[in-house]
Amino acid sequence: MKDASILVHAGRAPLRVGGPVNMPVHRASTIVSPTLEEFDANEAGDAKFRNVCYGALGTENAFALCDAVNRLEQGAGAMVTSSGLSACTQSLLAFVGAGDHVLMPDSVYGPQRMFCETILRRFGVETTFYDPRIGADMDILIKANTRVVYTEAPGSLTFEMQDIPAIVKAAHAHGAIVIMDNTWAGPLYFKPLTVGVDICVEAATKFIAGHSDLVMGIIIARTDELYRRMRSFCVQMGEIASPDDCYMALRGLRTMKVRMQTQFAQALTLARWLQDRPEVMQVLYPPLEGDPGHELWARDFSGGGSLFSIVLPKTEKKAVAAMLNGYRMFSIGASWGGYDSLVEHCHPQRTALNRVSPVWNDDNCTLVRYAVGLEDVDDLKADLEEGFARLNAARS
Ligand SMILES: Cc1ncc(COP(=O)(O)O)c(C=O)c1O
Repeated sequence: MKDASILVHAGRAPLRVGGPVNMPVHRASTIVSPTLEEFDANEAGDAKFRNVCYGALGTENAFALCDAVNRLEQGAGAMVTSSGLSACTQSLLAFVGAGDHVLMPDSVYGPQRMFCETILRRFGVETTFYDPRIGADMDILIKANTRVVYTEAPGSLTFEMQDIPAIVKAAHAHGAIVIMDNTWAGPLYFKPLTVGVDICVEAATKFIAGHSDLVMGIIIARTDELYRRMRSFCVQMGEIASPDDCYMALRGLRTMKVRMQTQFAQALTLARWLQDRPEVMQVLYPPLEGDPGHELWARDFSGGGSLFSIVLPKTEKKAVAAMLNGYRMFSIGASWGGYDSLVEHCHPQRTALNRVSPVWNDDNCTLVRYAVGLEDVDDLKADLEEGFARLNAARS
């Protein structure tokens, strides 16, 4: 079945639940059993992994969403977590212990970096931050105690692409597993598990839910063994998402293809236009011809997220504020992947400390990140154009 059909049909069982097209919300902590035998069967064996037996392990809504995302990702099994960040941190924690070593891209999502530098370190796990563009040279950094090579492509502020197949090859040759944060492209535009990534994480908060109204993570495993280990870990940590949020996320997922297609096309149109603006030094967006990551993107991805950054010459905050404050379409706010356009003044050096890769930073430039939504692209362009007029006026 093609992705568009999976999006519509996966995770649905209308006849089993009395007819409604969408799985109704099953709010429950307790799920009763008609007999002791059935209760015991639910408690035993595989029940914790797939069956509905207690709210903290997931109700019908969590399992329906997981089944749909798992089919899109072509995995062995999926589980929901309380946020995208918890999907990132728990997937890592499930595979490391004291004395282990982790490799993390320098461009990784900031809070994940902080997790490595504080909590993981406290538990005796060492992290090395590597240049995200390392590719096959990853080989050199892997140590005897390296358990996990973590990847995220592209970086969500500075948009470096990663050679995922080459990294997988190097990691597997040394017995390390590979985890990928695939939130930017999502399961429609890149399927990490099909190129050997072991664990894929998605911040469902973004394109999957798609409406800026919930926070959730999804972890998908490549093999049954990896799934069981990951799921068992999440169950022990008490990781789950609420039935209401799972319902909303699955409803969002149904339209993900049309939303992402339009948002990607609009982002590309705007990115190309921004490249020619005299105010803009560079647009950081791998789908752009000429972007340093374009070749890898074109080889491995079939589309992209609608998130990119522009680099301006170092600009006073007052002038940046003049540009951002007046936008009519681009609201100032964190996150991305919703139907609405957002803008953020970014400071990548606050998290990626320029230790490894030469990221853009406040000393040499100003970085502004745009999440392109579903508004009319001409309105978005006009909004940006008016913003540049305010920027230029504030500068002079
Ligand atoms: C690439 C990436 N991964 C993970 C997350 C975390 O998602 P959440 O906000 O749901 O915790 C984010 C959030 O911005 C992100 O940009």
